Amino acid sequence: MKFFVDTADIKEIRDLAATGMLDGVTTNPSLVAKSGRDFFEVLKEICAVVTGPVSAEVTATDAAGMIKEGEKLTKIAKNICIKVPLTWDGLKACKHFTSNGTMVNVTLCFSAAQALLAAKAGATFISPFVGRLDDIGQDGMQLISDICTMYSQYDYFKTEVLVASIRNPVHIIDAALMGAHVATIPPSVLRQLINHPLTDKGLEVFLADWQKTGQKIA
Ligand code: E4P
Repeated sequence: MKFFVDTADIKEIRDLAATGMLDGVTTNPSLVAKSGRDFFEVLKEICAVVTGPVSAEVTATDAAGMIKEGEKLTKIAKNICIKVPLTWDGLKACKHFTSNGTMVNVTLCFSAAQALLAAKAGATFISPFVGRLDDIGQDGMQLISDICTMYSQYDYFKTEVLVASIRNPVHIIDAALMGAHVATIPPSVLRQLINHPLTDKGLEVFLADWQKTGQKIA
């Protein structure tokens, strides 16, 4: 499973990239606003740190506008992935870009029907938002399961399932068990993945016992 980090915070991205766990980055207008940075500058910096796909979202709502913005965004770096919303215009823009070999992440997916359309538009990634579905009392992970099953019926669907709006480590494990290709994870949740009290306790005991031996390795 690939791990993308869901942030526009370059400090966090650098820190997590150093772990060797990062396969890409997703941003959205809200995350860019939160960073307080210039959109183009921050994307350029991110693309220099991470070699995998870096999603940059268009803000036009018509296909022609999305294509114009997307073309400008692709000039930032080779690993830019254009992010478009799941609308008819977004799907038209998706088809345009993927037909020309540019990666596209179709975002704001909340149903299997929408995911089917994105695959038919040749999307590189489909982003179903699990946390936002859970927030309104629906089962976000059931949607992931449905999309994974649906896509696996057709060899010619090349779209990867990118699980988005992740709120906790359980979302990631469940997504991995379902065979989802990618999880885009907030930095705080990615860091939680390593936690286990028995690891901490075990290490504490090993170190205390080692001290008693009075030995040194180096
Ligand atoms: C995905 O690309 C989105 O940026 C993100 O996962 C949305 O998550 P949120 O629901 O926590 O805002």
